[in-house]
Amino acid sequence: MSEPSDSREELEILALARHLARGAGGILRDRYETPLAVDTKSSRNDLVTEVDRASEAFLVDTLRRERPGDAVLAEEGGARAGEAASRWRWVIDPLDGTTNFAHGYPRFCVSIGVEHRGEVRVAVVYEPLRDELFEARRGAGATRNGEAIRVSSADTFDDALVATGFAYDIRESEDDNRAAFSRVVKAVRGIRRAGSAALDCCSVACGRLDGYWEHKLKAWDVAAGHLLVEEAGGRVSDYRGGPAPPSGAEIVATNGAIHNALLAVLADA
Ligand code: IPD
Ligand code: CA
Ligand code: CA
Repeated sequence: MSEPSDSREELEILALARHLARGAGGILRDRYETPLAVDTKSSRNDLVTEVDRASEAFLVDTLRRERPGDAVLAEEGGARAGEAASRWRWVIDPLDGTTNFAHGYPRFCVSIGVEHRGEVRVAVVYEPLRDELFEARRGAGATRNGEAIRVSSADTFDDALVATGFAYDIRESEDDNRAAFSRVVKAVRGIRRAGSAALDCCSVACGRLDGYWEHKLKAWDVAAGHLLVEEAGGRVSDYRGGPAPPSGAEIVATNGAIHNALLAVLADA
C-alpha cells in the first residue's frame, strides 16, 4: 500500500465525493419503482433511463460549482476537460446497475473515483437502498459506513463465492465471457451476476464475495471499485495477473488468496 496523503485537498475531495454520492443516491432512491422514461444506447439491452441522466446532471452541476477547474469523465456524456492547473479528474457512474433499476431489481449504486495525475486516490460507492456508503483513500484503507472493512480470508477456490458480468454486446460478440463462466461455475461454491460492477467490487472489499471478474467494462465502472478492493487488502489485476487497465477492459478482483486459482481457470477458458 502506498502512503496516504493527508493533504487537506484530498480530504476535502473525499468529503465532497461523499456528499455527491449521497445526493445522487437520494435521486435514485426517490425514483426507484416509479414510472420511467427508458432509452437504449449501444444495443437493445443497453439501457439509459431519465434517472441516469438526472443523477449525472446533479453530480456534474455540483462539481462545476464546487470544483470548476477539475476534469470530469461521466458515463452519460458529462465530460469536461478541466483546467491545466488542476490535476484532479472525477470518474463517475451516476447509476451503476441501470438494468436492475429499470426492472425494479434492488441492486444499484452511484460510483465515484477521483484521480490525481492519473492515479485514483479517492473512491466512494453509495448503495441507496441499503444506505451503505463505501469509501477508500489510497494508502488509508477502506470503510463501509465509517467502519473499516477487509476482504475475506477464504483460501480454497472450491469453497469460494464469486461474481461476474456480461457485456451489452453479448448477442453480437463471440468474446462473451461464456467459456469463463462455464469453467468457473464448475469450480467454485457459487457464482452471482448481480448487475453492478461497482457493487461487485464493494462486495469483494467487505468479504461478501471472495472474487469477481469481468471484461469490456468502462473506466467509470471500475475506478472506485478497484481502489476499494486494494485498500481492503485484496488484489486487482488483468486476466494475466498484470496491472488492471484503468479503461475497465479487464478486471479480476479478489481477496488475494484465491487470485491465482481464478486466473488459472480464466486462462484455460
Ligand atoms: C453495467 C453494470 C453491469 C456490468 C455491465 C456494466 P451500467 O453498468 O456494472 O454489472 O455487467 O457491463 O456496463 O450500464 O448499469 O452502468
Ligand atoms: Ca456501470
Ligand atoms: Ca451507469
